[in-house]
Amino acid sequence: MSLQDLHGKDLLSLADLSATQLQALIQLVCDLKSGKTNLTCNKVLGLLFYKASTRTRVSFTVAMYQLGGQVIDLNPKVTQVGRGEPIEDTARVLDRYLDILAVRTFAQADLATFAQYAKIPVINALTDLAHPCQILADLQTMQEEFGSLSGLSLTYLGDGNNVAHSLLLGCALAGVNITVATPPGYEPLPKVVEQAQALAQNGAQIAVTNDAIAAVKGSNVVYTDVWASMGQEEEADSRIPRFEPYQANATLMAHADPKAIVLHCLPAHRGEEITAEVMEGSQARIWDQAENRMHAQKALMAVLLGLR
Ligand code: CP
Ligand code: NVA
Repeated sequence: MSLQDLHGKDLLSLADLSATQLQALIQLVCDLKSGKTNLTCNKVLGLLFYKASTRTRVSFTVAMYQLGGQVIDLNPKVTQVGRGEPIEDTARVLDRYLDILAVRTFAQADLATFAQYAKIPVINALTDLAHPCQILADLQTMQEEFGSLSGLSLTYLGDGNNVAHSLLLGCALAGVNITVATPPGYEPLPKVVEQAQALAQNGAQIAVTNDAIAAVKGSNVVYTDVWASMGQEEEADSRIPRFEPYQANATLMAHADPKAIVLHCLPAHRGEEITAEVMEGSQARIWDQAENRMHAQKALMAVLLGLR
């Protein structure tokens, strides 16, 4: 399966890509970033975000502008979706105007309904289940750092959330060993872990543990995310004591490979899931990672729109 096979398709999960397609897409991200490849279009992207966003919103917008297209912000507060117009109806109408649609919402099922009723490509810009665009940029950031992905080891510390789920799938497809270390009761969904194990390439090991120190041992990439995601704000304070042993701090980093890098999808809570010292330290690649969201989504849109 080649990149051309993705023309007109949706990207609801990284499992929508084959290992070969993911590899080719990451290469396209690198080529667009370096200027080796230039692509243009005259297309219109819609952004329908039911949750807050800085990086995803701005990086999608700038990426489409750089491709030569236009962007419409379909803020639910000022469109009829916020007043309860059914997704099935909204999706069929947007399909007639737009060329491509990125949706950030809560339930994966709602995203799937958008994709079912809109014939144009629909992209998952984050759901409670998954954040594939983030992980596309993360893998490209890792490739940029280490030259290749297969055989690397990544440790994810914290909540078994949307980012953890997409990392499991993305690492599996890229042949990256992944260990997800969470407090008891906050593990990723078993169905996603099983899906990652089934997709694993080149013998990549997929592991889930409650032991943060063992998880970080020898790791090339240490990754963390907020302890309470959007929609879980009321649990934030009660989670802190349970999650403290999983903080990305200098003590835990001492167990990782000395050349390990630190990633965080942002936004971050310094002093909770990551210390200011680690975030601002020499191992952090967090700002490159944020920049790469733009290159990654440009490549993704180019492929789904058939520019490539
Ligand atoms: N990492 C990420 O998706 O950031 P935003 O919520 O700001 O889009
Ligand atoms: N897990 C976080 C990621 C934010 C980019 C959330 O869903 O809020």
